[in-house]
Amino acid sequence: MRLDKLLAHMDYGSRKEVKELIRKGYVLVNGNVIKDDDYKVDEFNDEINILDSEIKYEEFIYIMLNKPDGYVSATYDFNNPTVLDLINDYKKRNLFPVGRLDIDTVGLLLITNDGALAHKLLSPKSHVDKKYYLKYEGKYDESFIKKFQDGIVLDDGYKCMSASFIDLGNNEAYIIIKEGKFHQVKRMMESVGCNVTFLKRVSFGNLSLDESLEEGKWRHLTIEEVESLK
Ligand code: URA
Repeated sequence: MRLDKLLAHMDYGSRKEVKELIRKGYVLVNGNVIKDDDYKVDEFNDEINILDSEIKYEEFIYIMLNKPDGYVSATYDFNNPTVLDLINDYKKRNLFPVGRLDIDTVGLLLITNDGALAHKLLSPKSHVDKKYYLKYEGKYDESFIKKFQDGIVLDDGYKCMSASFIDLGNNEAYIIIKEGKFHQVKRMMESVGCNVTFLKRVSFGNLSLDESLEEGKWRHLTIEEVESLK
């Protein structure tokens, strides 16, 4: 990869700004000052420094976002801010959300540029567990547990895969589903005569929402978290 492209990718500045850093002699490759901005580097094996700090190029970025209400799970939207507007870094790294949460759903959203992992996690064959915490209006009935286990039939006739309904009392519950149909949790609750008033995703596969992340905040996944998803 060209040296200036790599530095711009890593958010050390615009292409113009990083060219300036290179021309000023601030950038070293394997210990040698390089003043040539189209110098080709091996981004995985060369040692690249800006003055004293070493730069580690990571091809893939994995971010856990605690999605707030009011943001669309997309890379672009005409009317509303998107979840990517909450991530100021990595503008040039082609990040995208893995799957969708409704605009009013909060909680765990994975954001990455690793298309292969996203594809694997979202594939209907993967059956990744998604756990939601919800508040709802309507009357709880013990029969919910079996109905969810047996497969709720949605308004369009689709029979959901077996899911778990865990009653928390006080019109609160956890629901664990293995698929991701449009408005699935809300529609499952409608089918048992209830209306979801608050929905938060608390886990996705082996990944749990870091409760120390306030809504709207994000952090990188740890290596262990990335491995657990793979
Ligand atoms: N189910 C829903 O109804 N909405 C979501 O955002 C996620 C799951």
